[in-house]
Amino acid sequence: MRRAKISIIGAGNVGATAAHWAASKELGDIVLVDIPAVEGMPQGKALDLYESSPIEGFDSRIIGATSYEPTANSDVVIVTAGVARKPGMSRDDLININTGIVKTVAENVARHSPNAVMIVVSNPLDAMVYVAWKASGFPTKRVIGQAGVLDTARFRSFLAQEVGCSVEDVQALLLGGHGDDMVPLARYTFAGGIPITQLVKKDRLEEIIKRARNGGAEIVQLLKTGSAYYAPAAATVQMAEAVVRDKKRILPCAAYCDKEYGIGGYFVGVPVVLGTDGVERIIEVELDAEERKMFQNSVDHVKELVKSVKV
Ligand code: NAI
Ligand code: 2OP
Repeated sequence: MRRAKISIIGAGNVGATAAHWAASKELGDIVLVDIPAVEGMPQGKALDLYESSPIEGFDSRIIGATSYEPTANSDVVIVTAGVARKPGMSRDDLININTGIVKTVAENVARHSPNAVMIVVSNPLDAMVYVAWKASGFPTKRVIGQAGVLDTARFRSFLAQEVGCSVEDVQALLLGGHGDDMVPLARYTFAGGIPITQLVKKDRLEEIIKRARNGGAEIVQLLKTGSAYYAPAAATVQMAEAVVRDKKRILPCAAYCDKEYGIGGYFVGVPVVLGTDGVERIIEVELDAEERKMFQNSVDHVKELVKSVKV
């Protein structure tokens, strides 16, 4: 059986860590691409990771490159190319520089892997996934943004700590953009099937929601030289795995919504079914008046951001 081929564009912190998770899950062969300041960086990281395979016991071919030829006919392409934020910067501050980078990357992806599912990670996420879609000319279902899996993972890990239970038992849902106005939905959050509102007091739950919203900035404040990468890479690889293994996972992803939720043609975080074809279905959940208002605020912000980019 042919192994899946996964290319990762941008071999920095998120890209290299995603390669690591993907290899350890034996998702397929991996190509790491970058235009590094230091020649040899993607090749060096790929070789180093490959040399760990006899110890870790995975059979994935991993190569590094500074061109797109080795990525040809990838099944999944993960886009992490771009600049990461530093303390005091918001994700939106990256828009000008990352638009140019993501546009070039997406054009190359379309040229070399016309049938791939593209998972975009670069920030500001909701705008960059739109840029990648426009520049690639791909059908909407084959362009997806990673944000919600990370944001719910943060929410779930804080809740597991609070409840004193396994992280595996906490399920959560989150809607909207990957900004400070993202919408964690307490009503759709459970620990072991029990509504979280029965396990965590309202004021504590609100504090935890606030911390989850601020999760990216919390890490930036601690690292000072860049932003989070272990959890973002793990989230991205969970999406790639759903595609490569056709798992039909229901995950919160930035997906193109037109009639869905009445969005009108933007990528926003919603629950989707992810499989070989990419976004196989968008699931519309019922929202009460307050949830709908918060979601609308977040969507309005995404629209503003997207309108400011020139693709
Ligand atoms: P990083 O700086 O460690 O790596 C970025 C890499 O992209 C660098 O190695 C750089 O040389 C490369 N690059 C720049 N232009 C390129 C091009 N045209 N072609 C190929 N490679 C190119 O940054 P990090 O931490 O890996 O973050 C990457 C991006 O992902 C940032 O924009 C960051 O804000 C975003 N991010 C998004 C998350 C999300 O949840 N959506 C979570 C974490 C990071
Ligand atoms: C995060 O949430 C920087 O978007 C990235 O960590």
